Amino acid sequence: QEDDFKKVISHAKEYGYVFQSSEIYDGLSAVYDYAQNGAELKKNIREYWWKAMVQLNDNIVGLDSAIFMHPTVWKASGHVDAFNDPLIDNKDSKKRYRADVLVEDYTAKIEAKIDKEVAKAEKRFGDAFDKKQFLETNPRVVGYQEQINAILKRLGKSLENEDLVDVKNLIEELEIACPLSGSRNWTDVKQFNLMFGTKLGASADSAMDLYLRPETAQGIFVNFLNVQKSGRMKIPFGIAQVGKAFRNEIVARQFIFRQREFEQMEMQFFIRPGSQKEWYETWKEKRMAWHLSLGMGPENYRFHDHEKLAHYADAAADIEFKFPFGFKELEGIHSRTDFDLGSHEKYSGKKLQYFDPELNESYVPYVVETSIGLDRMFLAVFSNSLVEEELDNNTTRTVLKLPAVLAPVKAAVLPLVKKDGLPELAQEIIDDLKWDFNVVYDEKDAVGRRYRRQDANGTPFCITVDHQSLEDKTVTIRHRDTMEQQRVAISEVKAIIHKEVDM
Ligand code: GAP
Repeated sequence: QEDDFKKVISHAKEYGYVFQSSEIYDGLSAVYDYAQNGAELKKNIREYWWKAMVQLNDNIVGLDSAIFMHPTVWKASGHVDAFNDPLIDNKDSKKRYRADVLVEDYTAKIEAKIDKEVAKAEKRFGDAFDKKQFLETNPRVVGYQEQINAILKRLGKSLENEDLVDVKNLIEELEIACPLSGSRNWTDVKQFNLMFGTKLGASADSAMDLYLRPETAQGIFVNFLNVQKSGRMKIPFGIAQVGKAFRNEIVARQFIFRQREFEQMEMQFFIRPGSQKEWYETWKEKRMAWHLSLGMGPENYRFHDHEKLAHYADAAADIEFKFPFGFKELEGIHSRTDFDLGSHEKYSGKKLQYFDPELNESYVPYVVETSIGLDRMFLAVFSNSLVEEELDNNTTRTVLKLPAVLAPVKAAVLPLVKKDGLPELAQEIIDDLKWDFNVVYDEKDAVGRRYRRQDANGTPFCITVDHQSLEDKTVTIRHRDTMEQQRVAISEVKAIIHKEVDM
């Protein structure tokens, strides 16, 4: 698993998808830049989302609100008081951990013990081995499983009750039971706010303390009435936006999965109070359908319903995706009640009510939100697409099987040789296609190597121009996933590509 993930990271770098930010200065931790292919892939994911959410829904409109917001927004939203991670320092190693993640590391260690037992038994019993039965009945494995459940239950409870002393005790007990850090010298657990602060204004005494937004949602809440009135929107309706968010993440590992600066694609759906359960279920379903429409395999997704709820929610679920390091949160669907609008009413003193003409009454709407990290979606798509294929002739090829609709480059046009007028004809084809698609020209190396390069780059089509093309105005079009080649008229190429890559 770890190796697969390393391959994903190095492939992303080698093919111009993702670089560490400020790399020439040794990088900035948990901050990344998207390069020529990465910027295109990201743009295509953004558009795929926008089209599904805004363009195809008559009752959802877009917004692009500012990153800077009035500081009281974050007081009202609860982020100043409650947007915290519990942190613990190890006094010997001087390393800082998120306490809950550290506990997860311990449970992973116990899980690894279970895996070891399974592997041992598998070897011993061979074909007769029944894994399910073994997991349920082997006393040692059952014991480990119970240990894990007890740990997670206790952690959940103590975090919920903000009993930070107990979180520390738990870590100390775990370190004794299954040493991980090799050191037992911990500080107390402290809450650490994840918002980045900055200042607005020139002189030190008049400057105003601001935060970089930790979620895009608040820009939607504070504009709720502006949009509703100017757009004459009727409940139920939604407001969607895509934009940067910032969090001072402490445990920043796993590449672009958890970054300090990232992009969110969020939609707030405003509804009648009392209808939240129904809309929550509807949006869970709709969002899962959106994911499945990309064809990345239903087995790679699952819902995780939250027991511990954020300060604003009455129900919440994650759509989890099978990343190279296991199932992790990709998107959240939250029933946020009237928490945010109600709180902004209180703090701002402005009414944020909707007059419902059918009910003939005014109320503060309830909200169901869908919130997905663009960068996380990028990692899901990219890691899922990277495959190494055994070919019939005993060689392997590396292919990035991106959904064609998301691929950064849709087609590469390749003259078979660099002479006899083939480059010129290839260029003519490019000049025609580039109005519709992002296409590239490549004349370097043997054509087989160029195919491999485009496979690894994720390009769904290679269009090869040869001598016959000059005579009969046909080309070969090669499909990335099947490697099949077809002879087609140049005039048909555009329609063939459109058919595969259009949203
Ligand atoms: N408005 C609700 C909200 O912000 P969240 O669960 O904190 O909810 C939503 O974040 C999504 O944003 C997550 O499911 C994840 O995809 C993405 N996300 C959150 N923190 C992130 C980070 N540090 N790096 C990358 N993506 C992140």
